[in-house]
Amino acid sequence: MQAPVEIFRSDYKSPANWVTEVTLDFDIYSGSTIVKSTLSVVKNEGSTVEKGDLILDGDDSSVKLKEIYLDGEKLNSGSDYTLTSSQLIVHSSCFTGKSSFKLETTVSIVPEDNTQLSGFYKSGSMYCSQCEAEGFRRITYYPDRPDNMAKFTHVKITADADSYPILLSNGNLVSTTEKDGEGRHSAVWEDPFPKPSYLFAVVVGDLGSIKDSYTTTSGRNVHLEIFSEKENVGKLDYAMESLKNSMKWDEDKFGLEYDLDIYNVVAVNDFNMGAMENKGLNVFNTAYVLADQKTATDGDFERVEGVIGHEYFHNWTGNRVTCRDWFQLTLKEGLTVFRDQEFSGDMGSNDVTRIENVKGLRGRQFAEDAGPMSHPIRPESYVAIDNFYTATVYSKGAEVIRMYNTILGEAGFRKGMDLYFERHDGSAATCDDFRAAMADANEADLEQFSRWYTQKGTPTVKYSSSYDPSTSTFTLDLSQHTASAPDNEPFHIPVAFGVIDSETGAELVESQVLHFKEASKSFEFKLSSDPKGTAVPSVMRGFSAPVKIVSEASPATQKTDLLTLAAYDTDGFNRWEAGQKLYTEAIFTQLAGDDVNLDGVYQAFEQTLTSPKISDDSIRAYGLMLPSESGLAEDMDIIDPIGLHDARTAIKKKLARKFQAGVAELYDRLTKEMSGAPFEVNSKAVGKRRLRNTCLDYACANKDTDEEVIASAQLAHKHYFEANCMTDQVAAMSILSNVHGVPEAEKLRDEVLSKFFDDANGDALVLNKWFTIQAVSSKPDVLEDVISLTSHPEFTMTNPNRCRSLIGAFTANSAAFHAEDGAGYKFIGEKIGILDAMNPQIASRMVGCLISFKRYDENRATKMRAELSKILEIEGLSPDTFEIVSKALS
Ligand code: TRP
Ligand code: ZN
Repeated sequence: MQAPVEIFRSDYKSPANWVTEVTLDFDIYSGSTIVKSTLSVVKNEGSTVEKGDLILDGDDSSVKLKEIYLDGEKLNSGSDYTLTSSQLIVHSSCFTGKSSFKLETTVSIVPEDNTQLSGFYKSGSMYCSQCEAEGFRRITYYPDRPDNMAKFTHVKITADADSYPILLSNGNLVSTTEKDGEGRHSAVWEDPFPKPSYLFAVVVGDLGSIKDSYTTTSGRNVHLEIFSEKENVGKLDYAMESLKNSMKWDEDKFGLEYDLDIYNVVAVNDFNMGAMENKGLNVFNTAYVLADQKTATDGDFERVEGVIGHEYFHNWTGNRVTCRDWFQLTLKEGLTVFRDQEFSGDMGSNDVTRIENVKGLRGRQFAEDAGPMSHPIRPESYVAIDNFYTATVYSKGAEVIRMYNTILGEAGFRKGMDLYFERHDGSAATCDDFRAAMADANEADLEQFSRWYTQKGTPTVKYSSSYDPSTSTFTLDLSQHTASAPDNEPFHIPVAFGVIDSETGAELVESQVLHFKEASKSFEFKLSSDPKGTAVPSVMRGFSAPVKIVSEASPATQKTDLLTLAAYDTDGFNRWEAGQKLYTEAIFTQLAGDDVNLDGVYQAFEQTLTSPKISDDSIRAYGLMLPSESGLAEDMDIIDPIGLHDARTAIKKKLARKFQAGVAELYDRLTKEMSGAPFEVNSKAVGKRRLRNTCLDYACANKDTDEEVIASAQLAHKHYFEANCMTDQVAAMSILSNVHGVPEAEKLRDEVLSKFFDDANGDALVLNKWFTIQAVSSKPDVLEDVISLTSHPEFTMTNPNRCRSLIGAFTANSAAFHAEDGAGYKFIGEKIGILDAMNPQIASRMVGCLISFKRYDENRATKMRAELSKILEIEGLSPDTFEIVSKALS
């Protein structure tokens, strides 16, 4: 492991030499894999690096150098090359006067011992690779930087034929050999497209698959194949459908076609992230590719579609045009997330997708931007690049791309994309290149817009409005500031805007995008006629910028404005948002211990529950749901996790009581409608399940007396046993998992939990749900349950999904994790220590739950800090975890 060194964006220099072509030879034996490489090297005439040495990255904790030759001549250590713990430096004296040369190395690696899941490793019975961001250097010596794009002309894999019949790499299959006398066979692959090393992949195993094909608009026939362990082949169909939909969508929407004859996807059990876009050979975490009625929730299906799309879309935004350096990560990730969000919206409902994405942004990215790891979407420095695969780079990065789309319009955005590909196809680009293409294609001034790349923090936009009947003028006053980064210069904020008549619901000005570029500014609009009621502003429609929006109107006006918007706004997102704001206000009033007047909340809830105007059941369901605790926490200076949890629960109970009859009626109606219907995954069917499960949740929230606790447990129990799919089972079991202290109800809870476990029959993804649901329970003794689950025979820290399903899920159980005695912190502190030695990427992600101690009261902050200090003292702590913890403590 390398010592922690900080790398700066401003230090970028192109290297002294380029590797232009590569051949690789993997000889896989149990306990040792030999990797031979031949690199064709040329001098980089444009380089400003003084010494011309050839610098190859290599992690000596993984790679052992056996041999090294330059143009056939053996090189000597010391005089010809220098080996450090992280580099192999071939002195320029070995190749002076040569315009190009070939460097051959032989190394050995031990994938069986690779617990970091970066580089080449073993997952169950298969071998696979993960090279992004810096895993290739754990496979062989190489300039492991994304600006070095090379052709991988010949990748040969040799392994035991019976144990590993499937041998895969990027691109096209060139040749195979039959089983030889030693029982081994081999395959040779060639990738015609130059690529950076992070897109390289190898997979070796005894795998099953499903096959299909897709013909592109220009007539290329593409062979599609998705591989998994044999017992999971039945769960690949949804991924295949999603893949074909993605291919079609990118053609229709952006005119982008697939460029190889083969597209392979492999499902892998042990994987640090969601999935990886390796050229022609995507590798997926099983959680994002396997899905069927029995084992996957609607959320899982949705994620499979989104991630399949995401990795497919990377083929253009990431692979054909890649990143010059890792500071540019959002160039491919923000853009590709935007593309996958648009795809998901088009496949289902755009409003629903938007609501879900904004909920996610507020719950995670806002918190990140308010904590010690806050960074602009293009960071200025890093120690471990793996720490910057963040909600900010991904989700806020996608919002920044969405703002181009909002500012330039869909057609303008498309022109910018076309120019971007025209200029940069086949090369490694920067965020500035992207912005320049958008600006040039539209003759737009995007100078100020660049601040979204350089400034961190979530801006707050405050607004107020007035109407002057004497001049028929409506005035909107806007101001912006960033509380967590007060020195920020004003952003260019696109404010999608309209005005609604509170009496008639009519739009009083044409819906439009305002360009808000100053610290404060007033916008004036002439209305063609006086409003019948009041003129209510609808700002930031569709969540047109990643900001917090605050009204400066009096509380009474705010309430009536929100009711108007909840009822009439022509923007689906803002209709939903208005309800959320009413709920939020009620929860915070409850938290403050003040008298809560719920008239407005009741009115909004009732309207959502009953309005015949709402045609989408998902929209109705999301309109009934209260904002999440994590989203609400971002509106508090000092977070009171237990108070917040209790206040939210109290408001939910009040709603449940008040609308008991209406909720029950809707639940019963949906139950009837759905009974006997075949299981389907489409927005209509998903919406019905979502709405019915939301009703179940409210119906079960009435539990002040033991009788009520028992009655709701019985209802959930019945729901569980009548369920025809995982979505409904999870909904019921989640409710039951909170049951505590009433033996008759606990019996029902335990019965469902053990039935679920037995029915899982060892299925890893189903068992993850079983762990998670228990870890997020509101039972007062949940930590004891979690601790005892860590000794469950099915629990292991080495599988990231399983580890997250229990330990990670517990950290998201805010009220329990932040228990005042600090027991939650202590538990996590210990686990991180163990995890860091095995898998630093996972450990450093997990430690994120401790770093925002400044957001908590003194008692909690002290205890969180103490755990961080202990972690920092661990001998051999990874640079990954070191970076996060030291930033938090400094
Ligand atoms: N590029 C991947 C994506 O689609 C991210 C990724 C997959 C990754 N595996 C990783 C990043 C391992 C870092 C380490 O978003
Ligand atoms: Zn990605």
